[in-house]
Amino acid sequence: MFRVSCFVIGFTWLFIACKPNNDKGKNISLSEEQIDSLLQIRYSKLLDYKLDSTAFARSYNPKTATIKKVPSKDWTSGFFPGNLWQIYMLTGDEAFKNKAKAWTAFIEKEKYNDRTHDMGFKVFCSFGNGLKVEDNQDYKDIIVKSAQTLSTRFNENVGSIRSWDFNKDVWQFPVIIDNMMNLELLFEATKISGDSTFHKIAVKHANTTLKNHFRKDGSTWHVLDYDTISGQVRARATHQGIGDDSAWSRGQGWAINGFTMVYRYTKDKKYLDRAVATANYFINHERLPKDGIPFWDFDHPEIPNVSRDVSAAAIVAAALVELYQYTENEAFLNYSNKVVQSLRSRHYILSEDLDIPFILDHSFGDWSHKEEMDEPIVYGDYYFLQTLIRLKALKQTSL
Ligand code: GLY
Repeated sequence: MFRVSCFVIGFTWLFIACKPNNDKGKNISLSEEQIDSLLQIRYSKLLDYKLDSTAFARSYNPKTATIKKVPSKDWTSGFFPGNLWQIYMLTGDEAFKNKAKAWTAFIEKEKYNDRTHDMGFKVFCSFGNGLKVEDNQDYKDIIVKSAQTLSTRFNENVGSIRSWDFNKDVWQFPVIIDNMMNLELLFEATKISGDSTFHKIAVKHANTTLKNHFRKDGSTWHVLDYDTISGQVRARATHQGIGDDSAWSRGQGWAINGFTMVYRYTKDKKYLDRAVATANYFINHERLPKDGIPFWDFDHPEIPNVSRDVSAAAIVAAALVELYQYTENEAFLNYSNKVVQSLRSRHYILSEDLDIPFILDHSFGDWSHKEEMDEPIVYGDYYFLQTLIRLKALKQTSL
């Protein structure tokens, strides 16, 4: 029903108004209603994507016109089902819920995968969102088992969960700022099971990160390497930023989103203060463009001739809707609204005729591997949708 109406409304004007996916088309400014219709069309592309347990949609390379498809063990697998769950939350269209369930089921085996810290991204963005939609004992059991598996990567001497297992000749015990995002799964596992072990590990990891990962200006390093016996920091470095001491934009996003979430579960003000300080660093940065979408690294020497990162903007925008509710700082809500306003444009929303299961263009993946640089990437969409859901909920509570 929903899809039929969006096609009727959407295509009528789209075919008349735009020659999509070229610069000329991108300059046409659209009304709010037209943008809504375009978004509905983009959502329907996710529904059309063929169900395949080994082919989670991760990104799209416009140069080769290929979709990068990954198995469930990839760190991004949970975002595609997460997007379907979130579109269901926004639209109420059961077709999205049914597809979300089917894709989510393919991730279950990751509950045993102890070779990665990315359990939260994989399992919580899929099963965790499913639990927000329906009370499902199987989903709860999977989250608890996943938390047990993730906990095996915790080192008591360091007080952190180990992030990566590669580069063992360089790093003894690498912990990346992104790892903060996994803590949500641990907090929820304690709520579900009553086993406080997971909550305690999450708090210890947050405290170690709080102590070591941040600079005086509020920004965060990407990778910290620890000594597994003494627990001391061996090195502060980067893997995806432009330099060891640069501020990689998405890393700042993981820090802001992660510490806001830890405050939600603990109500300990030191985490709130951390999120606020890094958020202020981000939104007040002199090199943040006016539309709120950052360059992929704040310290890239070639700014402004550098790609933006929609995913970083969306991760921060989602966090700042929540942070606004804890602080009542209007600047935070203004940033989230500005990002949504910017992304609701022809420049960022993919054109209606691209048959790929993504919504937004211009995310930036990984410079170190020269991969996914300025492309549609699944986690850019995920945090955009999360922002929309949070803004909608905020509007409803203030009515
Ligand atoms: N490790 C996740 C990221 O690239 O942000």
